[in-house]
Amino acid sequence: MPTILITGGHSGIGLECSRQLASFYGLNLVLGGRSLERMEPVAQELRTKYGVKVSTIKLDTSSLASVRAAAAQCRNMLDNGEIDSLQGIICNAGVRLNGPVSYTSDGYEEAFATNYLGHFLLVELLFDRVSDQGRIVYTASGTHDPDTVDGRMLGIAAEYDAIGLANIGKDGKKPPNAAKLYATSKLCMILYAYELDRRLRKSGSTIASIAYDPGLTSGTGFLRAMPKPMQRLSDSSFMNWVLKRTGVTMGSVDFSGKALAKITADSTYAKGSGKYFQSNDGKLIETRSSKLSYDEKRALKLWNDTKTLVHLKPNEEPAELRRR
Ligand SMILES: NC(=O)c1ccc[n+]([C@@H]2O[C@H](COP(=O)([O-])OP(=O)(O)OC[C@H]3O[C@@H](n4cnc5c(N)ncnc54)[C@H](OP(=O)(O)O)[C@@H]3O)[C@@H](O)[C@H]2O)c1
Repeated sequence: MPTILITGGHSGIGLECSRQLASFYGLNLVLGGRSLERMEPVAQELRTKYGVKVSTIKLDTSSLASVRAAAAQCRNMLDNGEIDSLQGIICNAGVRLNGPVSYTSDGYEEAFATNYLGHFLLVELLFDRVSDQGRIVYTASGTHDPDTVDGRMLGIAAEYDAIGLANIGKDGKKPPNAAKLYATSKLCMILYAYELDRRLRKSGSTIASIAYDPGLTSGTGFLRAMPKPMQRLSDSSFMNWVLKRTGVTMGSVDFSGKALAKITADSTYAKGSGKYFQSNDGKLIETRSSKLSYDEKRALKLWNDTKTLVHLKPNEEPAELRRR
């Protein structure tokens, strides 16, 4: 039975997606996350309820060493038959931090490394094991688009130079706030998803690269870095009503998680490569992402700079992804 590897598949939107992939599509899963203890109860629930195979691997997307170790473990699992075939990768883990800029063990700004860099490396290292017709799906965010209410409200993405972003705040200048850093990391993710699509099409690959915005979704662990009163307010139905009236793209854990599963596994989305889908008020639609996200020159520079940042070795880069 085909397997989907999902990061952050044990909580929030990712958990609902994992449940749907197992229950509705009958797919096996590999859950990748920082804590085996947090993932194991979910893995057990999915095995028991839906009879699928679920493995857990330690995968901290903010650490290049951890991503390399997790990719190696996945490859071993494929080699020894623990995983039958890798049908897709869902790059879903993400953080929106609060407070002063923090850096990972590699010395990179944490949101940028967690949301974007780690997923770039993971896909590079596993790409050659993804089955034909497979899908790579990226959970992005509407906040990346400054021309939307989502973008204007939460911090406009502006910085797109990967080396500068990874090292932001180290030059003594005041760094952008956490919301802006988050939105920018998601812009990078979309630029990258589209660049991956262009390379895949050029090489004749049948694998799809798809970007997805789940919409503003309360009831997940997403705002855990915010003060408690703020978290409670954002989860209230009154606040959700106000946000919807303001024109914010609204998701829900149930709908947005199931939509992520659909994009990953449903035949309707087999031709979704290079596209951007969005959950909004109970509808899953194809829409346009920000103007900047279609800038091919920026995407190319981002790709090349990212390779430098993740110290990608020539033998780690799949031939299909080398150049378009
Ligand atoms: N909720 C929203 O309003 C919203 C809107 C747009 C986009 N999104 C995106 O949706 C995705 C899922 O978020 P969510 O709302 O479901 O929030 P969530 O419940 O907090 O899920 C985030 C997941 O990412 C994992 N994660 C965080 N840092 C990680 C790291 N360094 N390595 C590996 N895993 C890590 C978390 O695992 P731990 O248990 O280890 O913390 C958790 O499973 C994120 O990419 C987020 O940016 C959310």
